[in-house]
Amino acid sequence: MMPVATAGSVTGVAVYPGRPGSVHLTRLAPPLPGPDEVLVTVRRVGVCGTDKEIIDGHFGSPPPGSDELVLGHEVIGTVTSIGDHVQGLRPGELVVATVRRPDDCPSCRAGQSDFCQWRRYTERGIIGLHGFMIERFVERPQYLISVPPPLEPVGVLLEPLSVVEKALRVARAVQQRLIDSRPATAVIFGAGPIGLLGTLLLRSEGVEVYTVARRPAPNLASSIVEAAGGHYVSTSELSPGELARSIPNIDLIFECSGNSEPAFEGMSLLGSNGVLVLLSLTGGDRKRTVPTDAINREFVLGNKLMVGSVNSHRTDFIAGVDHLARFENLWPGLTGRLITTRLSGFDEAERIQDVGGIKTVVELGS
Ligand code: BGC
Repeated sequence: MMPVATAGSVTGVAVYPGRPGSVHLTRLAPPLPGPDEVLVTVRRVGVCGTDKEIIDGHFGSPPPGSDELVLGHEVIGTVTSIGDHVQGLRPGELVVATVRRPDDCPSCRAGQSDFCQWRRYTERGIIGLHGFMIERFVERPQYLISVPPPLEPVGVLLEPLSVVEKALRVARAVQQRLIDSRPATAVIFGAGPIGLLGTLLLRSEGVEVYTVARRPAPNLASSIVEAAGGHYVSTSELSPGELARSIPNIDLIFECSGNSEPAFEGMSLLGSNGVLVLLSLTGGDRKRTVPTDAINREFVLGNKLMVGSVNSHRTDFIAGVDHLARFENLWPGLTGRLITTRLSGFDEAERIQDVGGIKTVVELGS
């Protein structure tokens, strides 16, 4: 239900963090940009697994002094006005926004809040700062990235793409220990938005990709994987162990199934000199017995690496802009097929908790 409007206020979609199923519409004071800030009118916001965790009451915190949190950290919008001191952005330009804002730790001070040490950062729409599922928001230009108009239909996918861009950047950085560091074969656990964007990213870089998920093919995810020249593997037909035995050395694994078990299974499947990147934020408390001696031995003998990766840097968004354009050239229209549900306007946005599919977006403006 639409709350009562007060002069100039803006509508947003919020939750009371910690209270499951508390999605509601709210009204906030109009955002007014200062001289160093940009006013952005929101066009479209994506919904991801983290939003679902917040909606289920497992994650998220409101800004200080508020009991509610405006959702949304995947956004594309239009610059509406800029403060007097802002350079490099113009009204009418399309932009996306980064998520994390720094604390004062050494990494954040060095400009790497995605590697924050103190973990007292804030994140828009997640931790301590309102998000982007709102009519308009104000942001500093260093947290905004321009998007070329032809990428408007898929630009809302830049934030999740930036997460896999960072994963690949991290894997490449650690693989500089090798003279030939290019991964030839990769396995991706999970065929949600992160798994599929990871598939497109690695395929666009010429890597042989096996995307592993539970659901039997054919389905939408399997058709996207195959259209990009990847291999979709359903665990109902082939176990990850059988897959590993039937393909060359697994150089790279992205674990993005949302489940911690494949993460540990991946440790046994990873090939020599391989890197396993963990990307799933698992909210549960699951326990499992694992063959520690065998895993330890194989990690030592095989020079293997396992690394966690979260969030992304501005440079990952910029890399993502280039890759999105490359995806469109290689496979016209394919990336847009990840968007399976479109909710239109604020009244429909209240239903975000009820929808499934690959990626839901909320259309808030044009
Ligand atoms: C976002 C990241 C964020 C993480 C943890 C993810 O959904 O994509 O930017 O750091 O949640 O809050």
